[in-house]
Amino acid sequence: MKSTTVFLITTAILLLSSPEAKAQTTKSPPPSLAPAPAPTPDHVNLTHLLTVAGSFHTFLGYLESTKVIDTFQEQANNSKDGITIFAPTDKAFSSLKQPSLSNLTQDQLKSLCLFHALSRYYSLADFKNLSQSSPVSTYAGGQYTLNFTDLSGDVHVNSGWTNTKISSSVLSTDPVAVYQVDHVLLPEAIFGTDIPPMPAPAPSPVADTPPAADTPSGVNVTTNSSPSSSEQDPNSSAQLISLGIWSHLFVAVSSVMIMMSG
Ligand SMILES: *[C@@H]1O[C@H](CO)[C@@H](O)[C@H](O)[C@H]1NC(C)=O
Ligand SMILES: *[C@@H]1O[C@H](CO)[C@@H](O)[C@H](O)[C@H]1NC(C)=O
Ligand SMILES: *[C@@H]1O[C@H](CO)[C@@H](O)[C@H](O)[C@H]1NC(C)=O
Ligand SMILES: *[C@@H]1O[C@H](CO)[C@@H](O)[C@H](O)[C@H]1NC(C)=O
Ligand SMILES: *[C@@H]1O[C@H](CO)[C@@H](O)[C@H](O)[C@H]1NC(C)=O
Ligand SMILES: *[C@@H]1O[C@H](CO)[C@@H](O)[C@H](O)[C@H]1NC(C)=O
Repeated sequence: MKSTTVFLITTAILLLSSPEAKAQTTKSPPPSLAPAPAPTPDHVNLTHLLTVAGSFHTFLGYLESTKVIDTFQEQANNSKDGITIFAPTDKAFSSLKQPSLSNLTQDQLKSLCLFHALSRYYSLADFKNLSQSSPVSTYAGGQYTLNFTDLSGDVHVNSGWTNTKISSSVLSTDPVAVYQVDHVLLPEAIFGTDIPPMPAPAPSPVADTPPAADTPSGVNVTTNSSPSSSEQDPNSSAQLISLGIWSHLFVAVSSVMIMMSG
């Protein structure tokens, strides 16, 4: 009796863990499973993420008014390549005095938004390699390029007008990466190459930016560090992943129970 139970459980585990074994087994397939658990959303909701993850409300506002948010979400949902987004903080927009965004046309605003993304997922570790291929095309295409440099783990982003660095990783789980930047990225393709000599950004009264838990600046990216990017996954992505794990566990447990009772 007892051994039968053990056998059943073992079989169940084998069935679950090996799709091939399942195909070859002569046993009849398990009876229809319990009602499928609600499908877990596989896709990151960028609107939601940018709403709750920090102070990205101005950026989100521009993404929404230009509908670029839909472009980004679609890329996040449907492309194999994924997406990398550089999200300037609200402070980045409020401290941007010149050049002003206020008289850009709607098309230029759209390009400006698209300029803040790459049409591929890049983990922080990938930027070391990516910096070899500067200038890098952004989602805005054409001459809308960014240069990257990796200075011992600090990823610097240069648009000509803007030279800033990734100050925090908001989310970095293939296929979606969202990195915080403290300056709006201004493309030469809009503002021209006649860049005023460093308009000495008033020494802001000591950055009071929230010390994000995932700031890459503390990360020691050594040359032979593991290529895996998942190590620096923030919190939120771990939660997303665990959701997936729970649904699998649920199916597994219910199958075992059904087999034991059957
Ligand atoms: C994404 O999140 C926003 C804000 O939380 C919400 O209004 C919207 O319905 C969500 N979209 C989807 C497709 O779930
Ligand atoms: C992205 O996927 C979610 C579900 O995962 C869906 O509700 C949403 O409409 C999709 N958005 C786009 C732009 O494809
Ligand atoms: C580095 O980038 C080149 C193309 O720019 C690519 O072919 C190569 O696979 C990349 N290497 C790594 C380790 O990602
Ligand atoms: C970006 O890199 C390219 C090639 O290294 C260089 O010609 C260009 O001037 C750089 N642009 C900026 C804005 O630094
Ligand atoms: C961390 O980085 C610093 C400076 O780049 C270096 O001196 C130190 O050896 C690194 N530590 C480790 C554990 O790699
Ligand atoms: C995870 O996120 C919660 C809030 O969302 C925060 O309180 C907690 O400190 C975070 N944990 C880590 C390890 O970042």
